[in-house]
Amino acid sequence: MTQEIKFIPTERLYADVRSTMMPRLESLYSGGITGTGSGHCGSRHFADRYTEQCEAHINEITGRRHTFLTTSGTASIQLMLMAAGVAPGDEVICTNYSCPATVMPIRLLGATPVFVDLDRHGQQDLAQVAARVTERTRAVMVTDLYGDCCDYDQLQAIQVPVLNDSAQSLMTLYRGQQTAAIGDMSIQSFSTNKNCPIFGTYGAISTDDPDTAERIKLMRKNGYGNREVGTAINHIGINAHPQEDKAVQVLCSLEKLSGWQLRRSEIAQQLTDTLRSAGVQIRPSPDYSETNHHKFSIFVNDKKQFRDLMTQQGVETQLHYTYNFAKTEVLSTDTEQHMPMTEFYARHAISIPSNPWLTDSEVAQVAEAVKSCVTDKDLDIHIPAMPK
Ligand SMILES: Cc1ncc(COP(=O)(O)O)c(C=O)c1O
Repeated sequence: MTQEIKFIPTERLYADVRSTMMPRLESLYSGGITGTGSGHCGSRHFADRYTEQCEAHINEITGRRHTFLTTSGTASIQLMLMAAGVAPGDEVICTNYSCPATVMPIRLLGATPVFVDLDRHGQQDLAQVAARVTERTRAVMVTDLYGDCCDYDQLQAIQVPVLNDSAQSLMTLYRGQQTAAIGDMSIQSFSTNKNCPIFGTYGAISTDDPDTAERIKLMRKNGYGNREVGTAINHIGINAHPQEDKAVQVLCSLEKLSGWQLRRSEIAQQLTDTLRSAGVQIRPSPDYSETNHHKFSIFVNDKKQFRDLMTQQGVETQLHYTYNFAKTEVLSTDTEQHMPMTEFYARHAISIPSNPWLTDSEVAQVAEAVKSCVTDKDLDIHIPAMPK
């Protein structure tokens, strides 16, 4: 009897971080912590020393000058748009394919998302951006997917702020540079399905500009600094102010991240070797990027049918992704737009387990399950040529 393989085994994540996480949480909850952070209502449970340690750690990884922990990647995107001044009537050029969190905050702020399709690697096609810029364009939001990244050099001539949704690309390199260092601002997500996961989610937003940093700091806390100084509320804000117990989780995962990355890379190699020789169509990585192996995705003819077959083999898969934002009425003002590469990915791309807690024999089991589930039709799938 083969073992069930979960896409993300959170109990193994727990086993990995337990010895560093539990003493910190115990100390925090039992009141033994004294901190120097900003506090909130006199409580040390809001942004304090663990939050600051996370922020310093992310700056160290990315090379950014200022990072602020937030309550989610989505909240970070909303803050990033607010800090860029996105307001009703503005347009934001963005990806047509990702998780809905990516573009929802644009609508929430009363702005219009202007979608661009993917390229063959499943990345937002930045070559299409210049043609979509109008006098209403307030920003371009770039979204790296699958652990790879977009071709940022394509944005060189763009005269609008670049906002980087690097929720899936912490540790990914674009021509040797951390992708999260690119753009006026960038964000992170620590959702359970990310390469630096926690239990639930958390987020971060980074910038190099000190004025923007000052505004973000206020905006993430409903627009105010603290209750002792100042009577003015200078910014519209949201409650994205971090809490120390979640910061402990993020910190413990950040401390493990480089080890997880090494294991992800070994697993990706093992899967690639076995599946490529069997003729399985693997999502291609661009030459310019060094992936963080956040997802391992393949193309099959009918991804829902394939998922069901894999489930019967005891292997959980995930349908990244099924959306076509341009065709979605709550997001789009023109649902007739044709997005051929999105349509290809939405129909055919599916992710198989590649988390760093898989043993070699489990990786072999995943690969064998794929080989036994693919049909000739799956092996015959080809990425369509990019429209000229
Ligand atoms: C590309 C991308 N952007 C934004 C988000 C939102 O992050 P969160 O789930 O932390 O709100 C996610 C993750 O779900 C994501 O994959």
